[in-house]
Amino acid sequence: MLPTEVPHPHVARRTAVFTESVIREMTRLAMLHGAINLAQGYPDFPAPDFIKRAAIDAINADLNQYAITWGAPRLRDAIAAKTKLHYKLDFDPAREITVTCGATEAMMATLLAVVEPGDEVIVFEPFYENYVPDAAMSGAELVFVELHAPGFTFDPAELRAAFSERTRAIIVNTPNNPSGKVFTREELQQVAALCQEFDALCITDEIYEHIVYDGRPHIPMATLPGMYERTITISGLSKTFSVTGWRLGYVLAPPALSNAIRKVHDFLTVGAPAPLQEAAATAMEQAEAYYPELRAMYTRKREQLLLPLLESGYRCHSPEGAYYIMADFTGLGFPGDDVAFARHLIENAGVAAVPGSSFYRHRDEGAHFVRFTFSKSEETLAEAARRLR
Ligand SMILES: Cc1ncc(COP(=O)(O)O)c(C=O)c1O
Repeated sequence: MLPTEVPHPHVARRTAVFTESVIREMTRLAMLHGAINLAQGYPDFPAPDFIKRAAIDAINADLNQYAITWGAPRLRDAIAAKTKLHYKLDFDPAREITVTCGATEAMMATLLAVVEPGDEVIVFEPFYENYVPDAAMSGAELVFVELHAPGFTFDPAELRAAFSERTRAIIVNTPNNPSGKVFTREELQQVAALCQEFDALCITDEIYEHIVYDGRPHIPMATLPGMYERTITISGLSKTFSVTGWRLGYVLAPPALSNAIRKVHDFLTVGAPAPLQEAAATAMEQAEAYYPELRAMYTRKREQLLLPLLESGYRCHSPEGAYYIMADFTGLGFPGDDVAFARHLIENAGVAAVPGSSFYRHRDEGAHFVRFTFSKSEETLAEAARRLR
């Protein structure tokens, strides 16, 4: 991340380590040039009717005041029931589940609750870009472990070398944005063993838990032996129900950790929107038939973008989960780096993507990638494919 250009005497230093998101900058450029926006990871198609109807009903029922700060009881019950049904994990809604304003707030509240300034927090790179400002605001020092392309696997020796007595936590995002990686049980076991050896926490970002392909399972870290006690699981409704603007996420953690996270959450945001929490409860209570439909829909969308990219000469690892493709454009013979290439794509092909270097601490590692999202309607993807070809 670049430092801000001119420090203002009244602006705190902690804001200097992060700039406005590169993704938003690409979005602005895309609008300027009338490009199709495959940069920002949100759906351009409607949310399912059953969740929209539930929200309308909740507003009509005058659920307009603050919900309980750690979440409406019905929503916490629905989260507990779903987590038990899918993963055989028993989280107590009264003490171990906190509803937040998106996974974004969940991660911020978690780091503020568990990290002392100067503690080290390990992240895999390429990483979801929010973790850098989250670390800056909580005082954490990030330690990076690379997921090596093309398969985005880590070297166990590099992972071990990142752990020390200063390690407070590791962040694991599976399914992964931007790489599309889904961590295997063996990989999670290696992370778990190190967390136990070094007495570190594992903070997992599982926001794409329901978007996995080819029959691959999503395995929550908290299900591994000895890991419930030291795992903080973050997820939310943004991606699963195509409602990124509703700002609904949640944190699952043992009581002592949940208690600290709840305190931070209370004073950061008080709580997530009350009527939307009721709608979320209704949706989750009815969603068992919906999850396979969601996976099938995204499987089709993945093919709709992957094939034209491969045919156009990009090298891509087929994503195992989430809804992004990291595309290596070196085969196209473009003379510049990823930022120049992303601008070129917007200006000449009319398609916006995110420069790969924005997902890396060592920016060079990502300079031959651009990231495309396929969380778009069939029509949008068809037009994007035509332009890319
Ligand atoms: C890995 C990851 N975590 C969290 C988020 C944000 O989720 P929310 O909308 O629940 O704040 C995103 C959104 O792109 C994401 O990709």
